[in-house]
Amino acid sequence: MISGTHTPHHMDIDSIGALVAESNAAQEKPVRHIRIFDTTLRDGEQSPGASMTFAEKMQVAEQLVRMGVDIIEAGFPSASPGDLAAVREIARRTRGTAVAGLARANQSDIDACREALQDAERPVLHVFLATSDLHMQYKLMMTREEVLARVDEMVRYGRRFFADVEFSAEDATRSDWNFLSQVFTTAISAGASTINIPDTVGYTMPNEYTALLTHLRRTVPGIEKVTMSAHCHDDLGMATANTLAAIAAGVGQVEVTINGLGERAGNTALEEVVMALRTRADTFGGYTTRIATEQLVPTSQMVSRITGIHVQPNKAIVGANAFAHEAGIHQDGMLKHRGTYEIMEPRMVGWSESKLVLGKHSGRHGFDAHLRRMGMRLRGEELQRAYESFIAFVDEHKTVDADDLRRIAEIAKHMPLPEQASA
Ligand code: KIV
Ligand code: ZN
Repeated sequence: MISGTHTPHHMDIDSIGALVAESNAAQEKPVRHIRIFDTTLRDGEQSPGASMTFAEKMQVAEQLVRMGVDIIEAGFPSASPGDLAAVREIARRTRGTAVAGLARANQSDIDACREALQDAERPVLHVFLATSDLHMQYKLMMTREEVLARVDEMVRYGRRFFADVEFSAEDATRSDWNFLSQVFTTAISAGASTINIPDTVGYTMPNEYTALLTHLRRTVPGIEKVTMSAHCHDDLGMATANTLAAIAAGVGQVEVTINGLGERAGNTALEEVVMALRTRADTFGGYTTRIATEQLVPTSQMVSRITGIHVQPNKAIVGANAFAHEAGIHQDGMLKHRGTYEIMEPRMVGWSESKLVLGKHSGRHGFDAHLRRMGMRLRGEELQRAYESFIAFVDEHKTVDADDLRRIAEIAKHMPLPEQASA
């Protein structure tokens, strides 16, 4: 045993080895794989205006597989014959990645999922029922007892046909915590392998979500044997923060969409969670995903092109300006060391390079670097004059393109220098 009074100098080699092993074990968290459940084709498609054709859904599903998601929620088969057909075809084509279908807690929805997922290599049935008093009273018109009985009945029914059943308690974050514990206890004893705790209306805050998940872990028997899942909406802009808090609180699965598409303000953006875990491994430590991160931008662009929903330029990771620098101080820093203003490598997420954008905030240094990259070399007075014309130009026109720059540089080059002009 290692006594507190010993120093390594007094120890034999075995004791030192034990001390090192003990301190490594204390510092290193075991690596935990976070399962990425992509719901772009289901919750994402519920974005107003985002509906996709059959062929487009096939393209997106193929790209999601290429990018390495663990589960594709391919649709809501009972919603329409078109949805059922698309889920069925995705299930038939997809190998190596699980395919989920969504069902309300009734037999005909579950039967539609059976039909749609019959050819899936790894089918997942996703059943949901609302559990907040508000939803139960006004939407479902069911009592708590009726909801518990329905969860039990439908999860058991689902388990007759599916080895993997996920149960979601819709509006979980606004549900009574003790009732929610009863709901999940029921779902687990009926055979659910994943329990999802959705923040359906984007209401919760990270500390509250953490507290709710901790409460469930303490009060639901058997919860340690199933996978807990987070599903967050972005109504208050907290979806990514809440999802990361859920990971720290022990969930093994996160439900996300490309570009944060989804009902109303959208769902948690896949790219943000994946890159936060990777970039801030120092703080999260030990979490990995299977996502090939260099596929993030191509996937984002495909989904944006197909749905017609543009990605805002300042969107994290995949926005056109996510790696663009305009201010002179920033460009100067970037030219000296990219770490001054970038925390990720653009190539790591699928951009070809960072952009030093010229605008009225750009300095002489950035302007000069830009001209050089275009193959133009101006020095001294010529460079100063070109820079002044450029600033006057962007003040008036806001933006400048390569042709404008070439013209500005040519004029500055061919204007007589002050001493020639006065000669
Ligand atoms: O937001 C939500 O509650 C959902 C469920 C169907 C999981 O999308
Ligand atoms: Zn949702």
